[in-house]
Amino acid sequence: MTRFVLDSHLPDDHLAKALAADVRAGLGGTPKTLPPKWFYDERGSKLFDQITELAEYYPTRTERELLRTHSGDVAAACPADTLVELGSGSSEKTRLLLDALDKAGTLRRYVPVDVSPGALIPASEALLTTYPRLEIHGLIADFEKHLDHLPDAERRIVAFLGGTIGNLTPAQRAEFLAGIRGGMGPNDMFLLGTGLVIDPAVLVPAYDDAAGVTAEFNKNVLRVINRDLDADFDLDAYEHVAVWDAGPEWIEMRLRSQRDQRVRIGGLDLDISVAAGEQIRTEISAKFRKAGITAELAAAGFELVAWWQDPDARFALSLSRPA
Ligand code: SAH
Ligand code: AVI
Repeated sequence: MTRFVLDSHLPDDHLAKALAADVRAGLGGTPKTLPPKWFYDERGSKLFDQITELAEYYPTRTERELLRTHSGDVAAACPADTLVELGSGSSEKTRLLLDALDKAGTLRRYVPVDVSPGALIPASEALLTTYPRLEIHGLIADFEKHLDHLPDAERRIVAFLGGTIGNLTPAQRAEFLAGIRGGMGPNDMFLLGTGLVIDPAVLVPAYDDAAGVTAEFNKNVLRVINRDLDADFDLDAYEHVAVWDAGPEWIEMRLRSQRDQRVRIGGLDLDISVAAGEQIRTEISAKFRKAGITAELAAAGFELVAWWQDPDARFALSLSRPA
């Protein structure tokens, strides 16, 4: 019996249709924007993994320490047979949760969900070797669109780690949280990783590292558009920008055009103008406060079971259940 099942909910023409629609909508208007999910082709997923190892990028190691300390508490509060993980990427930190559920004796199945097959497939293969009894049901899917495809189980933990929730706008977040809540049974719980609001002197370098890896990651979205939509963005003509916006409390990543330019997007039969100094917003990464995220969870029908944060209050893990 195979222990690895992989389903794709992204149609074959996903790139052609969904990327095309996002690029047309995002680059056709003012200000220009692009959704962050298009960073993560194989190269982008690898660049993200490199980011997680940078000295400046504190979220991954901080969340890993929280998981190291509290995965046992999570497994005790919710002795799940199935761990679902949205935006699972390399599934590296997930091993701490799998270990705790394995130790509790309840773990049967892991369900990684990611738009990036280049991240999900090798991550699953590595886990199959480490956990010889674990079943893995991978879903190549968009967690903003396909939450109704998550498999049922007796008791599930749905995990959304890394602070990826911060990459959604407030409206997208509300819809996403309501979607998660809508699919949850009474015994299921939701484990959420959130970056907290901290001193911009620490935050901004995490998104503008000295080695320039985040800049490469940011520009990767233009590479994806060049390749998949037959466009001719000149990557060298854009500069990586990371700015803290204290109003909505998020970091914005942008690409600033260094000169006036015309870009041909052949796949859309579209020509766009980008002015010198004009910025394309490629990502928001919102940071949270306990009261704010608790209220957002409550508005979606969740009640907080536990809240854990590191001693420097940079990152938090929260465990919630249906209210
Ligand atoms: N959870 C991992 C990876 C975070 S990177 C960690 O904490 O390190 C964000 C991941 O979410 C990437 O693997 C990316 O491919 C995935 N992702 C981004 N937008 C997505 C979407 N709309 N649907 C599904 N996966 C998405
Ligand atoms: C995946 N996500 C939580 C990362 C973040 O921190 O917002 C993506 C990232 N962007 C720049 N660096 C890392």
